[in-house]
Amino acid sequence: MKTRLLQPSDDGMETAREILDSGGLVAIPTETVYGLAANALNENAVRRVFEAKSRPPSNPLIVHVSDWNSAQNLIAASNQEAKLLTDAFWPGPLSIVLPRSSNVSDLITAGGNTVAIRSPNHPVALELIRICGFPLVAPSANRSSGISPTRIEHVFEELEGKIDAVLDGGPCEVGIESTVLDLTVSPLCILRPGAISSEEISKVLNQNVTHDFAVGNDALRSPGILGKHYSPKTPLFCIESPMALAQAEVLVTFYKHPNAVVISENPLIAAQELYKVLRELDTDELNAIYVVLPPDTEEWHAIRNRLLRAQGSLTF
Ligand code: TXA
Ligand code: MG
Repeated sequence: MKTRLLQPSDDGMETAREILDSGGLVAIPTETVYGLAANALNENAVRRVFEAKSRPPSNPLIVHVSDWNSAQNLIAASNQEAKLLTDAFWPGPLSIVLPRSSNVSDLITAGGNTVAIRSPNHPVALELIRICGFPLVAPSANRSSGISPTRIEHVFEELEGKIDAVLDGGPCEVGIESTVLDLTVSPLCILRPGAISSEEISKVLNQNVTHDFAVGNDALRSPGILGKHYSPKTPLFCIESPMALAQAEVLVTFYKHPNAVVISENPLIAAQELYKVLRELDTDELNAIYVVLPPDTEEWHAIRNRLLRAQGSLTF
């Protein structure tokens, strides 16, 4: 299959709509990372998403909608906390997990009774969902367990020949995936840290929010966050302070350092750059990548989480 590059400024939006309407796959820009979109109401299209990514069927997908109103027929009952959160953060990098309605296929939920929903804050994605008139599943547009794409070139590296098209929306502004919040448990629980912090969520709801993202925890509620993820092919190791390196090894830091690839001291800019830098370093020439972890503070949690996951062991 030839993967086409579509431009929103030409007739790219209409072509993307036609492809999705007939059950095809289009990688779309969102504010977090590029997503691999398919019609959430078409089971065959959803199945193709799992095939293209080689994604295990046990890992559920996030359904993307234009607003909270259009999420109503995907969920079992309306939810006051979800209303408050979506008023505050949608469109934006917050996915909420709620009891699902019968309109949501078992493939999407991996057989579970809940569905994750979000409204992406990107004009191209929002406009596409509106003109389609149906919700879109959109996992990150990489092969399973690899690094999420934040630029169209990354999507082509990952999925060229396996998907119908890529819709160009420029580089992603946030750079790492959305916060995933489970609203079906008490206390509410963050399953994946992201740009929206637990502090911000707690403030809107006036209640405490816990988190659950330790690998090896049997009580894990989000199957897709188990095991190795977001990983380069080159072995990556997280360390707490710099060390002497052999040849064919590289040091990455989030502060000025003479012998390191320095990402940024600013967590927002570091998130934008993280996957691009890891991708650039992921060449055959390197035996190992050593990353000095940023501080264990709220503003760095999402980045620490992705690095520990990339290493394949997370004890948070
Ligand atoms: O920012 C994002 O969320 C991006 C963009 C494209 O929207 N999408 C994304 O999708 O990161 P994906 O499939 O790569 O990650 C979805 C995460 C997985 O960890 C999955 O296990 C979890 O959300 N998830 C999906 N449905 C769930 C559910 N019903 N319950 C718990 N976790 C769920
Ligand atoms: Mg992903």
